[in-house]
Amino acid sequence: MRAGAKMETLRVELPTRRSTTRLARALSSVLAAGDCLTLNGPLGVGKTFLTRALCRALGLPTVEPVTSPTFTLVNEHPTVPPVAHADVYRLDSPDEVRDLGLAAMRGEGRLVVVEWGEPFVEALGGDAVVVRLEREPRGAEISATGERSAAVVDALRAKLVEGAAGC
Ligand SMILES: Nc1ncnc2c1ncn2[C@@H]1O[C@H](COP(=O)(O)OP(=O)(O)OP(=O)(O)O)[C@@H](O)[C@H]1O
Ligand SMILES: [Mg+2]
Repeated sequence: MRAGAKMETLRVELPTRRSTTRLARALSSVLAAGDCLTLNGPLGVGKTFLTRALCRALGLPTVEPVTSPTFTLVNEHPTVPPVAHADVYRLDSPDEVRDLGLAAMRGEGRLVVVEWGEPFVEALGGDAVVVRLEREPRGAEISATGERSAAVVDALRAKLVEGAAGC
């Protein structure tokens, strides 16, 4: 970890779908090719909703569906950068997650978003932005597991403060 890097968890209230869409837009402006975002939280909390809003913010037309890849495991979207959207709910071991090849996809310039990915960060290539969604009340805790993801969380914090101030 670089000296002076902030590792505090960022907390965001998400009382409305609109606020989740705003968070996705802010994420779209700070995440880049090769980054990894994990989304955890109870069934139906909004992991796919957030991913869909992120893909829209990265240029995916509204006619293109973004659905939970629960059975396909990985869906790819022609966004900029391209998003690989995975759902590892049904996988038990880091080796099964590693076999999906998501770390290599990061190396090839995909932005990798993984529902239920937090326990498997190492198998995903490490250094991920970790989002924990909560339902009552709706909100998110966002943290980092490495140097690059800490920089992303810092930039996200700044974006959200800017947005709240109406800049
Ligand atoms: N503030 C909010 N943010 C996000 N989604 C919300 C919010 N309020 C209500 N919703 C609704 O909650 C649902 C979230 O469903 P979604 O499929 O995204 O959940 P999920 O976490 O991906 O579920 P699963 O664990 O089954 O994959 C959507 O129907 C969405 O419209
Ligand atoms: Mg989902």
